[in-house]
Amino acid sequence: MLTLEERQKLADESPGWMYEFNLGDGIVTPLLADELRSVHQTRERMIFPHLDRLFPSVDGTQGLDGTQGLDGTRCLDAGCNEGYFAHLLYHRGADVQAIDIREVNIRRAQAIQSIRGFEPDRLRFEVRDFFDCQEPPDTYDICLFLGLLYHLENPMGALRLLHRVTRSVAIIETQFTQQRAPIVSGWGQTGVTCQLEASCGLLLEEDAHANRLASHPEGDGQTASQASGPTYLLSFVPNPAAVELMLKTAGFVEVEQITPRPGSNPQYLSNDRGVFFAYKQSRRAICERKGSNE
Ligand SMILES: C[S@@+](CC[C@H](N)C(=O)[O-])C[C@H]1O[C@@H](n2cnc3c(N)ncnc32)[C@H](O)[C@@H]1O
Repeated sequence: MLTLEERQKLADESPGWMYEFNLGDGIVTPLLADELRSVHQTRERMIFPHLDRLFPSVDGTQGLDGTQGLDGTRCLDAGCNEGYFAHLLYHRGADVQAIDIREVNIRRAQAIQSIRGFEPDRLRFEVRDFFDCQEPPDTYDICLFLGLLYHLENPMGALRLLHRVTRSVAIIETQFTQQRAPIVSGWGQTGVTCQLEASCGLLLEEDAHANRLASHPEGDGQTASQASGPTYLLSFVPNPAAVELMLKTAGFVEVEQITPRPGSNPQYLSNDRGVFFAYKQSRRAICERKGSNE
């Protein structure tokens, strides 16, 4: 167990934290931006009641503290940062593999794990590029893919890989562009046009080296020698129609965008960000297997 001084030093480390963790004795890790509190709360409320209904605990209670609805399930948290969402899966009984491309994020996640005493054989944090996932098909019952899609140069490749490693359901949370009208494109012959409802905006991420929440110069399978510096890092920010089309094209059989509750963070209420459940088998098949009433 870390001493009080060591815990205080960890909390005071710069930069600020992605999540507020209670380290005991009144020490709480300070957020790097205040709005993150309501972003995380909104996402938690959009994701977990839904997941708890799909994977109810054996005694029939659903999503209440202390239930173990994910007992025996294997989960992946891709781009886990300091690990808060991995904890939520762990608390429901899951076996969780959590990965992040940045060493600094995983070092913090491991420090929090050791302070909290979470079992290392059921919650594992590892520095890894998502594109390096070599797991066989259907390895993880549930995959979290939160805040990652719009940071990648190869988002479609990522979703194909996500589909491969998912067994039941993948949960994708992402930024959207505000483009809702179709984009008109010519198509091979004069006067022939397509109306493209699904679209992406390209964002040049110039601070990727310094921003530990962003894409990574060596991500998307690039090696250090191919990563030629921040000028060459692009993020593809999708609109909601693009996320749905990409998930279905990657092979998910059902895709559901979750409606935020009243009082949620404004970014979700205005559909600037959103959460999707993407089912590899039909929702009905997952519910029947887990004995859920959904
Ligand atoms: C915006 S943060 C989201 C963190 C967390 N999933 C959440 O939603 O609260 C994006 C995270 O993805 C990580 N990341 C970026 N590219 C990655 C990659 N190719 N493989 C794994 N993690 C990556 C970043 O280091 C960062 O921690």
